[in-house]
Amino acid sequence: MASPFDVLGVDPDADEETIEQAYRERVFEAHPDHGGSAAEFQRVRRAYERIEAGADPAAETRPPAEGTPGEEPVPDEPEDVGVTVEYLDYQALADRGWELTDADLFEKAATADLGDGDYGEFVAEPGTPLLEAAEEAGHAWPFACRGGACTNCAVAIFDGEMPMHASHILPQEWIDRGVRLSCVSAPVSDEMQVVFNVKHLPGLEELLLPASRFDQARSSSD
Ligand code: FES
Repeated sequence: MASPFDVLGVDPDADEETIEQAYRERVFEAHPDHGGSAAEFQRVRRAYERIEAGADPAAETRPPAEGTPGEEPVPDEPEDVGVTVEYLDYQALADRGWELTDADLFEKAATADLGDGDYGEFVAEPGTPLLEAAEEAGHAWPFACRGGACTNCAVAIFDGEMPMHASHILPQEWIDRGVRLSCVSAPVSDEMQVVFNVKHLPGLEELLLPASRFDQARSSSD
C-alpha cells in the first residue's frame, strides 16, 4: 500500500504549505470531471486526511517487510490516525436495485458517480460514535434520540467491526445481521464500510420510534 506521502507525491518531511499545494493539485487531477476516477479521488482525499490526522512519516516510509511475493505488508500506523469509514446511503442503493448482500456493493458505488452525500469516505476519531464522526465530517445522517432508543440512526456494517451490546430497541438478531445504532457505537477496525440510513429495512422499521417523539431529530423520510 502506498504511503499517503507517496500518493500526494511529497517528501515525508514536507512542510504544511507544500502538502496542501500538492493535495490541491492531486485532488484536481484525480477528480472524475478532470480525467480521474471516484476511486482515485477518494484515495487522494484519504491520503491527505491521514497526513492531516498525524500519519507518522517514519512508519509510512518504513521498508516493506519480507513476505509472500505479491502480498503488500500492512504498514504500522499510530493508534490515533483514525478509522477510515467508506459509506453508502441505503436509499441510493435501493434506487439502483442493489442489495445489501451484493459482494461488490462498494465497488459498484465507487464507480456509480454518486454524490458526496450518498457515497464517500471520511476519517473518524478512534472511540467516536459513528453518527458523531459523520457529523464532524460534514454529513447529515438520520437520528432522533441520540441515545440508542429509536433506531433512526441504524447502519449496516458491510465490512469492519463496530461492537454494540444488544438493547431493548435493537435485539441480538439484528446485531448478528450487522446492524448497529450509530449514535451509541464506535468503529474499532482501521477501515470500515457501512451503509447508513437503513432504518426502513423490512423488519427493522417496526422498531422505529418516530423522530417527532424527540426534541432534536433529523429524520427526513419518516
Ligand atoms: S438516534 Fe435514536 S437510536 Fe440512535
